[in-house]
Amino acid sequence: MRALELVSPMDIASYLEQNRKDLGRKTKNIKDFHVFDFHYIPEQPLLRDEAKALIDEMLRFEISGIPNHQAIVGSRGSGKTLTVKYLQRIMRKHTSLEVLYANCRHHNTSFKVLAHLAGVQARGMSMTEVFGRFCRRWPAKTVVLLDEIDLMSAKDRRREILYLLSRSEQPFMAVLLSNRPHVLNELDAATKSSLQPWPRHFRNYGADQIQAILLDRAQRGLRQWDKGMLAEIAALTARLTNSDTRVAIKTLQNAVSAQGKDLRHAFEQARHDLIADMISDLSDSTLLILWAVVSADADLAKTVFGRYRHLCTHQSERPFSYMHFSSNLSYLQSAGLVALVSTKIRRAYTNRVLPTFDAGVAKQICRLRFGK
Ligand SMILES: Nc1ncnc2c1ncn2[C@@H]1O[C@H](COP(=O)(O)OP(=O)(O)OP(=O)(O)O)[C@@H](O)[C@H]1O
Ligand SMILES: [Mg+2]
Repeated sequence: MRALELVSPMDIASYLEQNRKDLGRKTKNIKDFHVFDFHYIPEQPLLRDEAKALIDEMLRFEISGIPNHQAIVGSRGSGKTLTVKYLQRIMRKHTSLEVLYANCRHHNTSFKVLAHLAGVQARGMSMTEVFGRFCRRWPAKTVVLLDEIDLMSAKDRRREILYLLSRSEQPFMAVLLSNRPHVLNELDAATKSSLQPWPRHFRNYGADQIQAILLDRAQRGLRQWDKGMLAEIAALTARLTNSDTRVAIKTLQNAVSAQGKDLRHAFEQARHDLIADMISDLSDSTLLILWAVVSADADLAKTVFGRYRHLCTHQSERPFSYMHFSSNLSYLQSAGLVALVSTKIRRAYTNRVLPTFDAGVAKQICRLRFGK
């Protein structure tokens, strides 16, 4: 066995001093670190056309009190959260509307969301009581932004909050956000018919839009930058990640700290870091599909499906139908984790499913999650 290396206190002090100096040198070009925080909301973000439609709906609601509920879908990093948070800020300032925001990742049942928005400790209360408290707390015209609605717990399949908001006599307008296009189909029939949300699609940003977002961050956060580099990061992001703006922002941060290492390296590093986050965020059922993708004997969709069913049996999970499996594959594609390539086998077309990242990362996360 290897002997434990002992480090003297003096070594630690010099190690610390050296690393502090290195870090200082690497980050001296950054004048404001906040701009690299994914929660940062710029003073004047690039406003997309789809956001204008949303503003119009909110203004109509302010005047009439009659809501057109909205369901916004767009792939990762297409600016959904940023847009609604920015609208929350300006709507509160310029209109009489109340605008509330809840992320269903953190409050993952209707009960928890309502308790959070009502500002009550709801333990021991019934759903009716909590909703009553919520209505009393927000009697005026209120927009309720529900982010990452697909991450509500399976326990709350019916997403009762939507039913309650749409049936209430008080004026509530619900805005649902998700990066999963199928979330609307999954709504319970009664909820769907009373909510009738208006679907809105946030298109992927083009390279020029990503470049404009990067330019704004650079102007605020950096002492110096190179316009060509911003264009190159934007082009790579649009071409290789389904326009996930997070990758672009992280690449910029890596690139200015890397001092001369090539841009492609900064980009791959950013993708790698964010991919691990993204895979860890997947639900168990979607992660099982990804696991099948990286461990199947062949990359044809049917073979991956067979492997997926096999993994489900081992995990005592009920597998999805082939249709549902395919819609999850499309989701993984929109998240930039797999590429679906149409291919002709004999006379029929089918898809090949290719992971777009190092399969080892997914295997490692699966091992941690499922204990294999
Ligand atoms: N129009 C914009 N102007 C400035 N920054 C933007 C814009 N759109 C996106 N960003 C930045 O890109 C990053 C990702 O955006 P955002 O979090 O809104 O994505 P999202 O669509 O909500 O993604 P997800 O589906 O993963 O939740 C954030 O740091 C955000 O500030
Ligand atoms: Mg978001």
